[in-house]
Amino acid sequence: MAYKIDMINEKEFEIAEDQTILQASLEAGIPHYHACGGNAQCSTCRVVVHEGIENLSPQSDAELALRKIKHFADNVRLACQTKVVKGNVKLQRIIKDEADLDLYVYGSKVDGRQSIGREQELALFFLDIRNFTPFIEKHLPFDVIHIIRRLMKLFSDTITSHNGRVVEYEGDGLYAVFGLEQDINDAVENAEQAGQKIVIEVRKLNSDYIEEFFNSKIEVGIGLHAGKVIVGEPGVNEQSSLTAMGFPVNVASRLESATKELNNNYVISDYAYNLLKRNGEGAAKKQIMLKGVSEPFDVRLLGHPFDNKL
Ligand code: FES
Repeated sequence: MAYKIDMINEKEFEIAEDQTILQASLEAGIPHYHACGGNAQCSTCRVVVHEGIENLSPQSDAELALRKIKHFADNVRLACQTKVVKGNVKLQRIIKDEADLDLYVYGSKVDGRQSIGREQELALFFLDIRNFTPFIEKHLPFDVIHIIRRLMKLFSDTITSHNGRVVEYEGDGLYAVFGLEQDINDAVENAEQAGQKIVIEVRKLNSDYIEEFFNSKIEVGIGLHAGKVIVGEPGVNEQSSLTAMGFPVNVASRLESATKELNNNYVISDYAYNLLKRNGEGAAKKQIMLKGVSEPFDVRLLGHPFDNKL
């Protein structure tokens, strides 16, 4: 019995029950990489399975061993170890040329789960230090950098301890995601709590340290949303930075900016708010306009008015 393989963007071909995907692919004229000769040693033959993963043969011990070392995503299989046993499948080769080899096999220190890119629903968290320019103008460069370092450490430690991950630091702000290893409800819960903790800790830092030694006060604005984004770890040039992008990220960023016009230091989308366990306590509801969206967007105010005039 023969089944059909759709090698996306390349070719459709048949595979016999006793053939591996690699053998059928080579027979169909696809220049499928197989540096170790099909011995589950090199991982160059790996494919992403888009449809029909249930139609594939179970993983061999050799494939399982390599998977453990390389941390393949669940939908990645070794073509040299896998047969089609039940029905048609849709696949995609990962390594198609020398540059791909460098990126995925030899040059990369990237975790295989993330390097292939995936869509995932995450909690998206933007934070900005408010009204920092007057502080910069009044203080020595050393003090400015010192305070930024204290704050960024506080933010990043709090985010990490709530299972979040900072994606990007930018000037006096940052962008973090929650839910890489959790479901979306826990992710939003954690993100919300991380934000509340940061607000409390910043207030404490003000009263114990910044007001006393610098005669100033720091405030933060936080925007939180949740949505499906594309997650990946490009890992170019030895850098293994996480990327999470998509329209919901723009929304979360916009919510952080909206803290200013709404004069509230913590703004969360109504969508994310409804994922919280505490839903029902009734945080004030408002509407804002989003760039490129004609309908007003519902948000909830979780924080307090700013102390400093912005
Ligand atoms: S050809 Fe080397 S692992 Fe499949």
